[in-house]
Order: sequence, then structure tokens, then C-alpha cells
Amino acid sequence: MDSVMETEILEVDSLEDNRALYAKAAEVLAAGNLVALPTETVYGLGADALNPTAVARVFEVKERPSFDPLIVHLSSPKNLDQVAVVPDELKDLVQRLAEEFWPGPLTMVLPRASVVPDIVTSGLDTVAVRVPSHPVMRGTVKALGHPIAAPSANRFGRISPTSASAVMKELGGKIELILDAGACSEGLESTIVRPVLDEKGKPAVELLREGPVTREQFRGLVKVIRKKPAKKEVADENAPVAPGQLTSHYAPGKRLILVSKDEEFQPEDGVRYGLLSYEGDSVLADSCDWDKVVIMSPGNGRLAEAAVRLFALMRQMDEDPEIDVIVAEELPENGIGAAMMDRLRRAAAKR
Ligand code: TXA
Ligand code: MG
Repeated sequence: MDSVMETEILEVDSLEDNRALYAKAAEVLAAGNLVALPTETVYGLGADALNPTAVARVFEVKERPSFDPLIVHLSSPKNLDQVAVVPDELKDLVQRLAEEFWPGPLTMVLPRASVVPDIVTSGLDTVAVRVPSHPVMRGTVKALGHPIAAPSANRFGRISPTSASAVMKELGGKIELILDAGACSEGLESTIVRPVLDEKGKPAVELLREGPVTREQFRGLVKVIRKKPAKKEVADENAPVAPGQLTSHYAPGKRLILVSKDEEFQPEDGVRYGLLSYEGDSVLADSCDWDKVVIMSPGNGRLAEAAVRLFALMRQMDEDPEIDVIVAEELPENGIGAAMMDRLRRAAAKR
């Protein structure tokens, strides 16, 4: 089913009453079709989470292996029971996390309710759930009256889109509708945790994916258990892989090398290197005659500014005909820097 269709783009003006737009998107979704829509993290490729046929098309359009489950988006924490069955011993913890971080960029992995189709969870007995803060995603979920299952709106393994034009480049001609509400405010995919009791029976979270809700933000609230990523390096349909833990992911088409900012870099002859620099003033930036230098935080916004711009700049460098290889500078690994380094390591991983 690779037929090319016309992808409609509708602009959302955040100053307007957009309920008619959400209703239109909900109508497309209710018919079993796909809509790409913004969240505060990245653009998602949405389908009615309770319609297995629609969700199957998400996998098809993204060329995503069926062992990699989707996140289900709710319009309000009140609706959590629609998709998850929270065991009594985790109720307090889940409520505290929801109060602290929802709506927002936190995804919780919880035992699933039977209404959630197998295809959403890849047959797992858990479901990943979040309540995004973006009004367009929440408004559309509300208009649909069902949760929306939405992975990032990119082809599998590629860079997540943080703008409607990036979605168009990834999936244009394959989906019915894109809601364009401009750039995403976080720019990195949500933090994923599994609420658990630790070996002493104390509440904890297993950190499955680093993201905008940082380790530091969990401190004082709940213990964080680091989950070791699986060693798998390539997607293999038949391999039992821990979901979302593929080493090569978030990858540009070009080679990406991760280098320390205080290191000198030895370029190969005849290769055109572009530097993706943190603030543009490192030893690395001065050490070599770069064909291009792109700066993640050109203002004084530091890591927060870099996070919002990271994927858009990776995408821009990937498309730049004047460079062959992207050299990314290491970032400080505190706060949101941990999530950025996670993405850069995967982008640099062997494919
Ligand atoms: O910010 C985000 O999370 C964005 C926006 C659109 O909400 N979504 C997103 O979805 O990044 P996706 O599909 O690109 O990444 C979801 C990750 C995958 O790595 C998947 O393996 C993991 O969530 N996941 C989903 N369900 C899971 C489950 N039951 N247990 C463990 N991991 C799960
Ligand atoms: Mg993704």
C-alpha cells in the first residue's frame, strides 16, 4: 500500500479557538486514517489507539518493526484508567508522578487495560502512556474521544521531526493530514519510566529513555533505577529486543561522529566535515578548517536552547550538499544534556 496520496497541511494559530480544526483532525482519525500532529516534544504520527487497523498503518507508513510498541496519548490524567490498570501498590507513586509531570513530557509504562489492542503494545502486557501538554494533541484526543497512539512522525530509525516541514519530508504523500503548529518547545522525545517497587519494596522508577524530564527532577521525589540498554545494534524483525533500546536510532543518513569538545580532530583528505558545535567556541571548533560550523546554542540559552534545536540542526546538516560527515561535539551530561547525549550516541552508533 505505497500509493501516493495528497497530504493536507492545516496551520494552527495558537491565538485562535481551534476546536473546529481539532474536530476535523478527529474526523480523519475516526475514519481510521493518520494525522501527524505536534506535541511539546516532537511531532507524532497519530492513529486512533483503539482501532487496530489504523494502528497497523502507522507501522506500515513508518516502516517500523512490529516489536516496537507505541505511546498512547491521553487528554487528561483522569483518563488513565481507560488504558492502564495501576496495581494498588503503585497507585500512590503513579499519582505523585502524574501530579508532578502531567501534562508534560513524561511517559509511564504501566500494566495495560484489555481494551488496548495488541498491536499498540506489540503484545506486551504493559502500555506506555502520556498526557502531553501541547494543546493541539490534547484538543484532538478530546475531540476524538479516544486516546491517540502516536510514535514520532519519522521513518523508523531516523531523526524525530520537530516541525511540520520535517514531517512532510519524512511522510509526505503517505498520510492524510498534518497539523502545523510551528516548532516543538522541547525538541526531544519524552522521558520514559516504568514505576516499580525496588527490592526493598520502596517506590522507584526504571529510567527506560532519557528525555526532557531529567534525573535531577526525579531526585527527592523517587529513586531512579538505571535500565541498561540492550546490546542489539541493528533492527532485526526476528530478534527479541527490549523495545526502544536499539543502539542505532535517531540517525541521519550521513555518518555522524561524536567528538569531545576539548579534543583535536584529525580529518581525512577529501572528506567535507560539518561541525555541530555546542556553543561554537571550543578547542574542537578552532582545531580544524571546518567546511561548515553550526551552533546548537548560539545565544546564551545553553543546554535548553541546544535541546530545542538539536534535531532540526541534525536534519539541516544531513540535507546540506556541502558536507559529507557530521561531527557532533559532546555536551555536558547534566540535566537535559543526558538525553541529548543519548540521542547523539545512538545517531553515531554503527548501523
Ligand atoms: O515524546 C514522545 O514520546 C513522542 C511524542 C509523539 O509523544 N513519541 C515517541 O514515540 O517518541 P516513539 O514511538 O518514537 O518512541 C516510543 C518509545 C519506543 O522506544 C518504544 O519502544 C517505547 O516507547 N515503548 C512503548 N511502549 C512500551 C512498553 N510497553 N514498554 C517499554 N517501552 C515501550
Ligand atoms: Mg521515535
